[in-house]
Amino acid sequence: MRKHIVAGNWKMNLTFNEADELLDELMSELEKVELPRDEQVVVCPPFPYIEMASDYANDSYFQVGAQNVSDKDKGAYTGEVSAEMLESCEIDWCIVGHSERRAYYGETDELVAAKVDQLLKHDLKPIVCVGEVLEEREAGRQFDVVKTQVEKGLFHLDTENIKKIVIAYEPVWAIGTGKTATPEQAQEIHAHIRSLLAAKYGKEVTDEISILYGGSCKPGNAKELFACPDIDGGLIGGASLKAADFMGIVTAF
Ligand code: 13P
Repeated sequence: MRKHIVAGNWKMNLTFNEADELLDELMSELEKVELPRDEQVVVCPPFPYIEMASDYANDSYFQVGAQNVSDKDKGAYTGEVSAEMLESCEIDWCIVGHSERRAYYGETDELVAAKVDQLLKHDLKPIVCVGEVLEEREAGRQFDVVKTQVEKGLFHLDTENIKKIVIAYEPVWAIGTGKTATPEQAQEIHAHIRSLLAAKYGKEVTDEISILYGGSCKPGNAKELFACPDIDGGLIGGASLKAADFMGIVTAF
């Protein structure tokens, strides 16, 4: 019922030629495997490579996402990229509220909510990131932190729109640290998120919403994470920069 999604978040990595090489490798690897019909692969490169990625993606196999979007419609906002622009470039997905944007660029839940609205207005699919930092986990506050992020970022949406959202649970202490959440730790937060959604929107709607795990996900641990009942795929950082590693995760279902 729910889509399985493996999305690569390249972050601020790779030159044009390196990106070209990676996309080329990825395409030839994806051509070799037959993915289940309910699985979607997404690649989120930096903005300058979006068009190149889309050209590769035109041959199907994967869809393209952006890593960020403006909360504004258009106009004098130097350096920003609007949802309308992404739509006009035929981009399908966009990551919102990544912990790095929250931590380094001061993105609040209110801003995340506004960006989600922009994306939905332009028919893009938001991948909305939530997750606690280490101190919050050590204080046992992970459930509350994630609850607030989900409520403030998404609960203004109606039933039709909430179904268009993909949520990524990324515990900040697991991002880029090589320290993955155990399947049990990840599953309990995913189940928590799903129960929050169910309480607000009902079980039927909630059963359609994919919740991805992110944080040091690798070919070696993807299988056991993806086997958890509430984990519907992954948002992959470091391991999405090498075709072999990314493919190891893509084929982990
Ligand atoms: P890593 O896979 O490098 O830990 O990054 C996860 C992430 O932040 C994906 O958005």
